[in-house]
Amino acid sequence: MVTADRSDLLRRIAARIPGAMGAGRAMRRLIAPDLRAIGKLRREQPGALFQPFPTTFEDRYPELFDALAARLAHIERPRVLSFGCADGAEARSLRRWLPKAEITGIDINPRAIAEARRRLALDPDPAIRFELAADVAGEPAESYDAVLALAVFRHGELERDRPENCAAIMPFARFAGGVAMLDRIVKPGGWLVIWNSHFRLADTPLAPAYAAQTLPWSESAPMVLHYGPDDRRSEQAYAEVLFRKDG
Ligand SMILES: C[S@@+](CC[C@H](N)C(=O)[O-])C[C@H]1O[C@@H](n2cnc3c(N)ncnc32)[C@H](O)[C@@H]1O
Repeated sequence: MVTADRSDLLRRIAARIPGAMGAGRAMRRLIAPDLRAIGKLRREQPGALFQPFPTTFEDRYPELFDALAARLAHIERPRVLSFGCADGAEARSLRRWLPKAEITGIDINPRAIAEARRRLALDPDPAIRFELAADVAGEPAESYDAVLALAVFRHGELERDRPENCAAIMPFARFAGGVAMLDRIVKPGGWLVIWNSHFRLADTPLAPAYAAQTLPWSESAPMVLHYGPDDRRSEQAYAEVLFRKDG
């Protein structure tokens, strides 16, 4: 936390560096609307919000996308959902791996969806759409061949503070509710893809309905920090990422 004293000190230091004050103001202007949007979500939808921070980038999980493309190769026009799509980088990346897919990106953050749509307008793709999360409630059951929740079932504050118990930040029950909602829209025989998560599908009642696969060839380090159904911290490497629904 930056206290008043510290921020005063930082301001005084910045005042001595040519251009630093202006750059600091520009930076604040740039990020403040994003922080305000996250604050609003935290106030208004605390029970629905998973990772609030919209960090993302293009081609973030190349080996995972390779693996998914191989598993969907037999489907002429696979339907794929990027749940927690942020600014749409994941959906745009998936297009390179799945040229014939219909890709939907969904996010709870209206600013993220606006940005994803703005970028889509610059480079139109009739088989990509971006929607606010509230609208996924209207998605017909068993709609998608693959549903990806990457860096969504986690929280920056769990990573930073590693508390013994996650309940005050993101309880396990919220994750279990989230995967139950996603399960509804995965087709039988389809794929649920969960990675970069602080919770494991294996710990939910849904686990018996899915066959888990790992990515032993992944360049990514396996996940370690996670929280169990009792909300307590556990540190044990796990790498299950692709889950095939019984069908
Ligand atoms: C770290 S970003 C992940 C972006 C992308 N999936 C990736 O891995 O690069 C997490 C995103 O999840 C979104 N999110 C959090 N809770 C959500 C919810 N209930 N429904 C949809 N999106 C949600 C956040 O708004 C944020 O944009």
